[in-house]
This record gives sequence, C-alpha cells and structure tokens, in this order.
Amino acid sequence: MTEATSSDAIPQLTSYDDASLDRQFAALGEQVLRETGALRSQVAREAFHLRWLGRKQGRLKLVSDAWLKTAPVDARKSLGIRFNDLKQKIEAALAVAATTTAPAANNGVDITLPGTARAPGIEHPLLKTMREIERVFHHLGYSTALGPQVESDFYNFEALNFPPNHPARDTQDTLLIAGQQKRPQRDRLLMRTHTSPVQIRSMIAADPPVRVVVPGKVHRNDAADATHSPVFHQVEGLCVDTNITFSDLKGTLDHAMKSLFGSTVKTRFFPSFFPFTEPSADVQISCIFCAGAGCRKCKHSGWIELLGCGMVDPAVFASVDQQRVAQGHAPAYDPAKITGFAFGMGVERIAMIQHGISDIGQFYSGDMRFLEQFG
Ligand code: PHE
Repeated sequence: MTEATSSDAIPQLTSYDDASLDRQFAALGEQVLRETGALRSQVAREAFHLRWLGRKQGRLKLVSDAWLKTAPVDARKSLGIRFNDLKQKIEAALAVAATTTAPAANNGVDITLPGTARAPGIEHPLLKTMREIERVFHHLGYSTALGPQVESDFYNFEALNFPPNHPARDTQDTLLIAGQQKRPQRDRLLMRTHTSPVQIRSMIAADPPVRVVVPGKVHRNDAADATHSPVFHQVEGLCVDTNITFSDLKGTLDHAMKSLFGSTVKTRFFPSFFPFTEPSADVQISCIFCAGAGCRKCKHSGWIELLGCGMVDPAVFASVDQQRVAQGHAPAYDPAKITGFAFGMGVERIAMIQHGISDIGQFYSGDMRFLEQFG
C-alpha cells in the first residue's frame, strides 16, 4: 500500500504525561486536517467519515482501543478530554467539507438530490391544427409545398392577378422590406400576405397535374384584436389538372370540413371575389356550437364563415406559363385545356373554433397554463 499505511497505524503510547499526549493527539489532528482539506466529492467525504468514525474499524475506535482501554486509571481523564477534542475536530471538519464539496463544484455526483424533471414537449395547438388540415389533404393525394415568407411583389400580387395599384391590394396591406425603391415593382420584397404565392411557385416548378397543400406564416397590416393578429397562419390548397370542375372543389371542401369538424357538419358556398380565382366563393360551415340553431358564436345565423376558394383564374395560368418560358421551361398551363381550384383557410380561426378559444392572443402568449391543455 501507499505511505498512508505507515502513518495509518495507531502508535503505541509510551508515556502519559501531558506533553506526550498533546504531541500524539496533535499528530492525529494534523492528519484529520490534511485529509479533509483534500476532500473533493461527496464520495470522498463519505469514505473519510467511515475511515475516522466507522464504528468497528474507524480510527477513532482504534485510538480508543489502543490508548484509552489500556491506560492507567489516573491518565484516563486527560486522555478522555483530548479524545473528545479530536472527535469534535473530525465532526467539525466533516461539516465544513459538506458545505465546500457541493456536487456541482466537483466531479462527484450527489445522487441524493432530487432529479431535474423535464416535461415532455407537446405540439403547439396551432401547429397541431395545421398538421391536422394537412393530413386531411394528404389522404386525398395532396403533398405539402412550402415557400418563403419574404416574397417578391410578383409572386405575392402580380402573378396572382393583382395588377399594380389595383384596389384589391389594399385588403392585403403588409410590411415592405426597406431599400427596394430602385428595383422594378415586381422584384420588390415584402412579407407575404397569404400563402397563395406558393400556387405560382408550384406550377412554375411542375407540370400538371398538381395537388399541393401549403401551410405557413403570413403577415398583414392588421391591428391586433381578439380575432386578428398581424402575423398569422394559413393553409392553402391547389388542385390543377384537365377537367377539374367547381363540383370537385365543393366535394373536396365538404369532405375536408367533415373530417375536421365532424361528419354532421354542413357546408354552403357564397359568391365572393379574389383576383386569382373566377368564380370565387366564401365557404361557411353549419355552426358546430349550436348545430345550426343559432347562438352567440355564430351571431345567431347558424353558420360560421371559414374559408375562401374558387376556380383558378385563366389569367393566373397565363402568367405561370409566361414565367415558365422566361425561366426556360415549356409552357404547360394552357387555360383552354387546364382547369383547377384553389382554397385558403386561416389556421388560427379553425383552431379557435375547434377548441372554443375566444382570444387569438392566447396562441402567442407562451403561457404554459394555456399551452399545457393541448398535450
Ligand atoms: N389567399 C386568399 C386570402 O388570403 C385566400 C384564398 C386562397 C382564396 C385560395 C381563394 C383561393 O384571403
């Protein structure tokens, strides 16, 4: 063994006068201090405790056996006093070591501390609803397409048949990226106001048939209130092929609404306007809170307006083909042969109806008491 072994043995006492006893106990006291000064971990501290205070083989027990039990009667008192001093010294040293050898400061791990509990992550309710909508369309053979949030005026407006200065642009006012004034208008960058630019990107990238769903974040210059947020989410859909009709659009959306809100839900279509669809429609579903009887949620109409849709405007196909040619692809969207429909819905609105949430701000609050309910 190491040097420690020789200094480990308890020496024999040869005389019991105060000076010799002081010397012998001082040697042990120094040993205690040296060893406690080197304690770096809880494990080492426990080993030290056992080594000195262990009831059977502890050094204090050995000292007691070797020095106290065999001592002449008149030396017992002075031995006992010094013995108790030594014991207190050991206990005090251990107490100090306990405060200076906290597990974090050293390489020992304190397995007696309570563990760090990590709550399992859950999907944000908005993401969850967005994935649900996507899944409904995946089952119908659609795939997911994504596009940039910083978009050019061309993709966000022009190719979707919003000519420059057209009043329909006012309904989708947004944030413009600074320093673009020198560029032609169609190249200027802005935060996209809807996911519809991805319709254009998808058709430039692929020949028909096209069936895509486009989930994503969009931006509008809207004041925040209980049902509006300047940043929100949409899911867009686009289906293009030969012989796609308005009946296909109606059947598809009726199926999607039943999948999302339950098979008893009814849909109805009202004429509407979007520059990129013709004809266009707004879709309402029968109120899921009162089953159409009329309540506060549906403003006593029995119906809730949910999304916009329509048949792709031939002008959109024309601008897609123009862009394809400009990019070196063959044209493939001849409006005389190709038809299609598109639709777009707000994810927040759908999630609010699904869960009966009345304040859109809750989605963005980061409040765990709200979010935990969707685990
Ligand atoms: N992009 C439209 C909007 O944000 C919604 C829409 C999408 C309408 C596709 C018709 C077809 O208001």
